Amino acid sequence: MSIVTPRQPLNAKPAPAAGDDRPVLVRRIGAADAINEITRLLHRAYRPQVEMGLAPLAGRQGDDITADRAAHSECWLATIPREPAAPIPGTTEPVPAAWGPERVVGVILFEEVEQATFPPFFLKPHVAHFAQFGVDPDVQGLGIGRLLLDKVESRARENGAVELACSMAEPDRKLFDFYARRGFRLIEHWQWPYTNYRSCIISKALT
Ligand SMILES: CC(C)(COP(=O)(O)OP(=O)(O)OC[C@H]1O[C@@H](n2cnc3c(N)ncnc32)[C@H](O)[C@@H]1OP(=O)(O)O)[C@@H](O)C(=O)NCCC(=O)NCCS
Repeated sequence: MSIVTPRQPLNAKPAPAAGDDRPVLVRRIGAADAINEITRLLHRAYRPQVEMGLAPLAGRQGDDITADRAAHSECWLATIPREPAAPIPGTTEPVPAAWGPERVVGVILFEEVEQATFPPFFLKPHVAHFAQFGVDPDVQGLGIGRLLLDKVESRARENGAVELACSMAEPDRKLFDFYARRGFRLIEHWQWPYTNYRSCIISKALT
């Protein structure tokens, strides 16, 4: 397990379930990570799209597909300790060593290799892409998504990419706004064989 991003505190914004300063770690998936925990997280994260009548793969895939997708990509996880640190008796100081075991709260795949045909933009030289991007609804809106995007953006730069692209469900206009605020623009439309909606291929120039 490689630790590549120093632990960073969750934003000061109040969170529904993790409303404290538990540190967030962004790291590569390891052999000890529970695939079913990641599948469950994805199903929860993509539920709003499913409730819109969309059928995103990440919202319905089984553990076998979660494992296969992780094996055919660079899979990054965001984790937080399950329990807040216990205070030192007689003080209010937390004990960092007492953080509980990790809970996976976010996932993103960098440069996933798929069997399905890629949209033309993904095939251009110096275009990196990411997929299966989800954060546990309990801790959305706290900057964990931004940390995961920062990670794939830095990996894209390390690989010499000049664009960072992804595919998103066209009907999810709020999601498009989320990406637009982060510098992404529409490139083209694409129909994946395993979804029931048209996708937008969006990209951000890595200047
Ligand atoms: C897209 C997604 C990964 C972002 O994760 P995140 O951890 O919420 O991202 P951040 O906290 O960095 O930013 C979220 C933005 O939405 C707002 N937001 C999202 N959820 C929120 C919530 N529950 N409460 C308040 N604000 C929220 C944040 O304020 C922030 O606004 P900004 O764009 O002005 O900065 C997450 O919303 C998700 O899992 N969505 C469902 C799956 C999906 O659609 N994935 C993308 C497929 S292409």
